[in-house]
Amino acid sequence: MLRGSGRTARIALPHLSSACLAVLAALPLSACEGADPAAARGGGDFARACAACHGTDARGLQGLGANLRTSEFVADSTDEDLIDLIKAGKDATDTHPAMPAKGGVPSLTDERLADIVAYIRSLRDD
Ligand code: HEC
Repeated sequence: MLRGSGRTARIALPHLSSACLAVLAALPLSACEGADPAAARGGGDFARACAACHGTDARGLQGLGANLRTSEFVADSTDEDLIDLIKAGKDATDTHPAMPAKGGVPSLTDERLADIVAYIRSLRDD
């Protein structure tokens, strides 16, 4: 009995595997469709350089960074304007602390900042 079902399983396996392979091959393709690769790359840098003040989901943190999902400044700015702001940082005011240039990560290149901007835009509803 045991040997019999073992043989059945071995015979059935290649058949199942090819079916599973077809599904596995199709899944990542459909999962990636429509996803912005720049935004995907920017997410990691956002987590490292920006999330401490703007929150992991960019909804902002009280008394620290602004909510970037609803920010009118983000909505009204070009990608270039946003990259310039991120490179410059912001001075402290009475209502918020300073934002360090590039979030305090000087190694971020323009390309990586552009990916961060794409990530922020991917989080917005507008
Ligand atoms: C040390 C805290 C801190 C870090 C780190 C930081 N920011 Fe900020 N950021 C701020 C503060 C404070 C402001 C001004 C908040 C305000 O205007 O209410 C700000 C403002 C901004 C604005 C303008 C928002 C608006 O509505 O005016 C953008 C865009 C922005 N930050 C993006 C980033 C990005 C992208 C990163 C990562 C590369 C980053 N920040 C890292 C603190 C930080």
